[in-house]
Amino acid sequence: MRLFTASHGRAWDPGDIDFSRERSDWRDLADDERQLLLRLVSGFRVGERGVTHELAPLQLRFRRGGWLEEEIFVAAQMYEEARHVQFFERWLVEALPGRFGVDIPYPEMEGDMFSIRLPRAMQALLGDDSPEALLRAVMLYHFYVEGVGAEAGYTLYHSIFERSGRFPGLERGIRLIQRDEARHISFGVYVLRRLLSEHDQLVDLFEDEVAALRRAARDDPEQILAGFEPATVPFGVDPAAYRQCYLDRLEEMRRRVAEPQQ
Ligand SMILES: [Fe+2]
Ligand SMILES: [Fe+2]
Repeated sequence: MRLFTASHGRAWDPGDIDFSRERSDWRDLADDERQLLLRLVSGFRVGERGVTHELAPLQLRFRRGGWLEEEIFVAAQMYEEARHVQFFERWLVEALPGRFGVDIPYPEMEGDMFSIRLPRAMQALLGDDSPEALLRAVMLYHFYVEGVGAEAGYTLYHSIFERSGRFPGLERGIRLIQRDEARHISFGVYVLRRLLSEHDQLVDLFEDEVAALRRAARDDPEQILAGFEPATVPFGVDPAAYRQCYLDRLEEMRRRVAEPQQ
């Protein structure tokens, strides 16, 4: 309820963000810089669409379990994820000087998180009220997609903004999205801690899931980095630091759940 209340007064309108500088900033970029930025934004667009598509089963699960506060938090989260989709769609369609997918090629991205892995974990909740299924779903959605993958992605955005001094509209939106996502991640930590405190048998499953996600965290960073030589990733991005960020975020999330401060 505290996290739900914290979202009040923090709603923002993607339509209010000024994209008037983005077009000339885009024109000033080198080809490889455009390629990296487009892959990053396009990846986030796919991700925000994916989390919007897949959240509803969690709300139904909380409703059936009588978790009212959690149910209404998820209702607010759905609206926030929908806003994030709108933001990225607007940037790609309105801010760039050309039609996305036509003049500006749609980047080829590998990966099955939003086509297979996340839908499978979330839709399992439709027919499975077990605490195990709930733990797996929140581990993938809030713990990993939001708490690890997206958080690592923000470090790339901030390298681009700092190095280039460009894209003030994109930067404004990313900061607002990060503020929303911090609440979503805290909510996931809370749900996982509650599950672990109520069901002793879940401790082993939690550690197994962390181990599986650790393996994913070694592969997933490559989707953005594919095609760039390590020494020539644009905007001074250090691929090793980006890969390490995935692993560090994962351990940080594990600590937040498993070793709460007294
Ligand atoms: Fe989001
Ligand atoms: Fe989120």
